[in-house]
Amino acid sequence: MIPDKVPKDDVFYGAAELQKGAHVPTFEKYKDMYMQSIQDPDKFWGDMAKDFFWKSQHTGRFLDYNFDVTKGEIFTKCMAGASTNICYNVLDRNVHDRKLGDKVAFHWEGNEPGDESMVTYRELLHAVCRFANVLKSQGVRKGDRVAIYLPMVVELVVAMLACARLGAVHSIVFAGFSAESLSDRIMDSGCSLLVTADGFYRGDKLINLKILADEALQKCRDKGFPLHRCIVLKHLSKEAHETSLSCPPAKRSCPDLQVPWNPEVDRCWHALVAAASDQCEPEWCESEDPLFILYTSGSTGKPKGVLHTLSGYMLYTAATFKLVFDHRPDDVYWCTADIGWITGHSYVTYGPLANGATSVLFEGLPTYPDVSRMWQMVDKYRVSKFYTAPTAIRLLMKYGNEPVQKYKRDSLKVLGTVGEPINPEAWHWYFSVVGDSRCPIVDTFWQTETGGHVLTPLPAATPMKPGSATFPFFGVVPAILNECGEELEGPSEGYLVFKQPWPGVMRTVYGNHGRFQSTYFKKFPGYYVTGDGCRRDKDGYYWITGRIDDMLNVSGHLLSTAEVESALVEHEAVAEAAVVGRPHPVKGESLYCFVTLGDGRTFNPTLEAQLRKQVREKIGAIATPDYIQDAPGLPKTRSGKIMRRVLRQIARGEKDLGDISTLADSSVVETLFINRCQPAL
Ligand code: WT7
Repeated sequence: MIPDKVPKDDVFYGAAELQKGAHVPTFEKYKDMYMQSIQDPDKFWGDMAKDFFWKSQHTGRFLDYNFDVTKGEIFTKCMAGASTNICYNVLDRNVHDRKLGDKVAFHWEGNEPGDESMVTYRELLHAVCRFANVLKSQGVRKGDRVAIYLPMVVELVVAMLACARLGAVHSIVFAGFSAESLSDRIMDSGCSLLVTADGFYRGDKLINLKILADEALQKCRDKGFPLHRCIVLKHLSKEAHETSLSCPPAKRSCPDLQVPWNPEVDRCWHALVAAASDQCEPEWCESEDPLFILYTSGSTGKPKGVLHTLSGYMLYTAATFKLVFDHRPDDVYWCTADIGWITGHSYVTYGPLANGATSVLFEGLPTYPDVSRMWQMVDKYRVSKFYTAPTAIRLLMKYGNEPVQKYKRDSLKVLGTVGEPINPEAWHWYFSVVGDSRCPIVDTFWQTETGGHVLTPLPAATPMKPGSATFPFFGVVPAILNECGEELEGPSEGYLVFKQPWPGVMRTVYGNHGRFQSTYFKKFPGYYVTGDGCRRDKDGYYWITGRIDDMLNVSGHLLSTAEVESALVEHEAVAEAAVVGRPHPVKGESLYCFVTLGDGRTFNPTLEAQLRKQVREKIGAIATPDYIQDAPGLPKTRSGKIMRRVLRQIARGEKDLGDISTLADSSVVETLFINRCQPAL
């Protein structure tokens, strides 16, 4: 399945010296290791597991599973029966066994240049123990769910690892999500406590996070789900700074910061931590105990709580981090993703810490205060491995080479990308301008569900083709299926599926195993279905062609069309809504919304603004519609199904609509076409 030979021409390589001392130095070596990982997964992963601390060894098979719905319940178990603790493995083991206590775990840099701090592995361990003791004192026990709604501060890592230390399950909600999204997630995962902050700055915009958290808690209360405790980190408040790990030292005043306080529920992070011990025995957990829940959009509109469990996730994030970034002890690694997304869970927190890496943790934006911020930081911290998203690359590319080239970037060795297919133009700019044609690009394809990279180049081993995620990671067996569910061989295009689990694959949708099975395993029994289309070329390279379900990928984040549609129809003026994607030069896709108004309602700029606000408040800023078109009628089949294909073509301004003979009323299309929204300048 992995080709014997890879092409010599039309492919790109990083600098040859990267092969020296690389974990996987050649394509031959990759192939050998890949075959081992498939033929004898127990040995392959068993060897990886030796680096970790196990309180007791596993009892059954290393990896046990059923991926075929026709044969019974879907399950994956990795190292069942073993007991361990992931927090112990990423902190105590590094401090005590590997003598990395004084090594920097994170260089934190705030939104404002000059706001910075650093934390060593030993300091991080103590901070985590203190906060774990705080959580315990607030009644958190093994198995309890804790919601975390924090900006990119070191305390976010502390809070998540403190949960892991106690065997509690963290459910992190990206701080860019709305109060309503937060409350839905708190209720769905049945959290008993919320950890949040007073506020933070995104560029020059202040976000009063505590107000949003309070709104969310009020919504929970209204629905009969009261939360009794909320721990509030003072990140911007004046009194905050002495005990903060990520404190803006300038003590700037934030006149617009509002921190409403409910003494019944709210507790100050700093006061609690000051009174807590920095010693805390980890809770030994079973391999398949839940580690965290993270929500991702679902095609029915209701987000799914993706559940990951302890040992398999730990092994997989550690192995992918080590091999995909070819991690070396003196690296400085920087992943720009927010911890609120899976990329941050796996490749800001768990993967790097498991390897004892030094990382940059950045609170701010790539364009603030100016568009060279990233490269200035690369030089400042001497970053050697850099991981970001195509949308950020396209955004910065617009400003030309000068903001990049005024910094040296000579520390960079490997560049990574994730989130969506990277268009060749952006790839070439990243490769030649950012990486000076020296640094390989690891185009890592994966999903919230996969826990870690599943298709990816290895930097010293895999010849790159711009836009291709190349080949499977160890233990991963991809296939391409046609509509009938038949596996296609050789060059082909179809549904991307996986034939067997790897340690880090999700275990269930929290509280809804039926939905887990029907979403990923029903369409093609025997396979995990990614929802992505994929092409394999003559050389065996895999190319992701994009989602083939009702999902949109906006700036590397999935949104379901149904989720946005239901936010729109909740407005009293809207009778029906249909949302499709329209290609966008920076975001990848933008949201194009067709709305049919109720009788007697008229479309006008005020209503349009209200609808935008409504979607933002229901879901979050990321879902803000780019275009809203008044649609007196929607193209429907005779059975009443909206023809999204036709709407997509209208949104793109494509005149040739193909076969529309199944439409009930074709005049609807002409009207929509004439009135379609023009692209913004
Ligand atoms: C979807 C998963 C995994 C972390 C970020 C997104 C798309 C992701 C790539 C890539 C082409 C990619 C897919 C996938 N995607 N990485 N390198 N090339 N497409 O996590 O929100 O769960 O989204 O992102 O469509 O299914 P997510």
